Amino acid sequence: MKILIIHGPNLNLLGQREPEIYGSLSLNDINAEISREARQFDFKPESRQSNHEGEIIDWLQNAANENFSGVIINPAAFTHTSIAIRDAIAAIKLPVIEVHLSNISDREEFRQKSLTAAVCRGTISGFGATSYLIALTAFKHLLVH
Ligand code: DQA
Repeated sequence: MKILIIHGPNLNLLGQREPEIYGSLSLNDINAEISREARQFDFKPESRQSNHEGEIIDWLQNAANENFSGVIINPAAFTHTSIAIRDAIAAIKLPVIEVHLSNISDREEFRQKSLTAAVCRGTISGFGATSYLIALTAFKHLLVH
C-alpha cells in the first residue's frame, strides 16, 4: 500500500531551522524514520517536499492516479493561509492526515488556526518527527483493519 508524505515549505531546512522548536533531525533523518516505521506495516512511503503551493496541490490531485492509498501532509505555513490546499484536500477521495512537528495550539495566535485540519481525517501535532510515525499507525488502523 503506497502512502504519500508531503512536506510543505521550509521543511527542507529542518535540522538548521529553529531547532529549539522543530528539533535537530534533518528532513532526510525524518524520512528515514518514516521508511523504517512504514516497513513494519508493509506500507510503501514516498516523501516529497515543496516550497510551492501549486506543486503541493498537483500532488494531492494526482495522488489517487498514482495509486496512493492515503496522504500524510505537513502543510507547514500553508496550514494557516491556503484555502487552495484546503480545497484540494476536500476535493480528493483519499484520506489525508495532517501532521505538525510542533504543537500549533500552543504557539502564536496566527498558527493556532488551521485552514486544512477540518477537511483532513485527523490531525497529529506536537510530537516532533514522531507525529509522522503516529500518522502511519493511524493509517494502519484506517486502511488495514
Ligand atoms: C509546522 C508549524 C507551522 O506553523 C510552521 O509554519 C511550519 C511547521 C510544524 O510542523 O510544526 O513550518 O507545520
